[in-house]
Amino acid sequence: MAIPYDWHPSNTPVEFENTDLPDIIELKNILQIYETKKGPFTVIKDLNFLVEDKPNQGQFVVILGTSGCGKSTVLRYIAALQQPTSGDILIKGKAQFPDFYIPMVFQKYSSLENRSVLDNVALGLEIAGESKKVRHEKAMAIIKKVGLLGHEKKYAKYPNLSGGQLQRVAIARCLLTNPDILLMDEPFGALDSHTRFMMQELLAKLWLELQLTCIFVTHDIPEAVFLADEIVLMRSNPGQIVERIEVPFGLERPKELKRNKKFTDMVFYIEDRLTKLGELGLASAKATDNTTSPPVPEPESKLPAAGELPSQPMKRSKW
Ligand SMILES: Nc1ncnc2c1ncn2[C@@H]1O[C@H](COP(=O)(O)OP(=O)(O)O)[C@@H](O)[C@H]1O
Ligand SMILES: [Mg+2]
Repeated sequence: MAIPYDWHPSNTPVEFENTDLPDIIELKNILQIYETKKGPFTVIKDLNFLVEDKPNQGQFVVILGTSGCGKSTVLRYIAALQQPTSGDILIKGKAQFPDFYIPMVFQKYSSLENRSVLDNVALGLEIAGESKKVRHEKAMAIIKKVGLLGHEKKYAKYPNLSGGQLQRVAIARCLLTNPDILLMDEPFGALDSHTRFMMQELLAKLWLELQLTCIFVTHDIPEAVFLADEIVLMRSNPGQIVERIEVPFGLERPKELKRNKKFTDMVFYIEDRLTKLGELGLASAKATDNTTSPPVPEPESKLPAAGELPSQPMKRSKW
């Protein structure tokens, strides 16, 4: 699908349509302001996000947006690692609170290096006071699932294990508690491309089997299209979700999909939109930073100023 020459990214946040399906994650009217030396800095404003449960299938939502727009912050809200300045965060309709554990896989390897793979994976059950026999049994089942059988006794550190294997450990540790929500913040960002492809396939298979809700952040557009059933685009300055895109490739994602023309068309379509969103974020940053910046130059593509665009409640783009 060609992008219309006069297409401008919205400067209004998405209004998510709330249907009868049960809500899993809902972020409402989020505002995040940081106090900095230069004064208050609004990172996120009017951010809304809704993930509903689809019957008998998982949900795979990928968040794409330029660096610094607030993607990791959104994941931290959901995991109750951070509270916004204002706004509501609901998990299954109830206010998220720090005791409600939602696991997250980070880009940085997060295993305890002085422990074996098995003891890393079993950590959650160990903290919960489960017996060694039970926790090892359960951990071994997951270790098998993520393709680490035979490595369980090794120390979970580089170079004993490769980067891909260390991320398998992190995924296994998160899956041990049988969560229905899994958060992933650029989990494959540090991996070489071949390992990355293998991990994408592993995750696609796990997701199909476990039917969980995965919220996944990446900078890699083909990775997003390969994994997601919905992609949300974020703008920056302020951070907001401005578009939802439905990915229509079914639940199973064989690697051949990446060669499909519809797949590559979608990748380019998203790339164009992200480029425009990047320009918009940059222009807004210059326009709002009146303390240190020189006069704001006209952006090349003459982007509309905030408030110039009609407010458009965004439905999901159909593909
Ligand atoms: N404690 C803080 N004080 C000031 N700014 C912060 C603080 N924490 C995060 N930020 C800023 O918030 C923005 C969003 O951060 P983040 O969610 O990590 O972005 P992303 O994951 O999209 O790259 C960034 O510009 C970052 O610099
Ligand atoms: Mg981040």
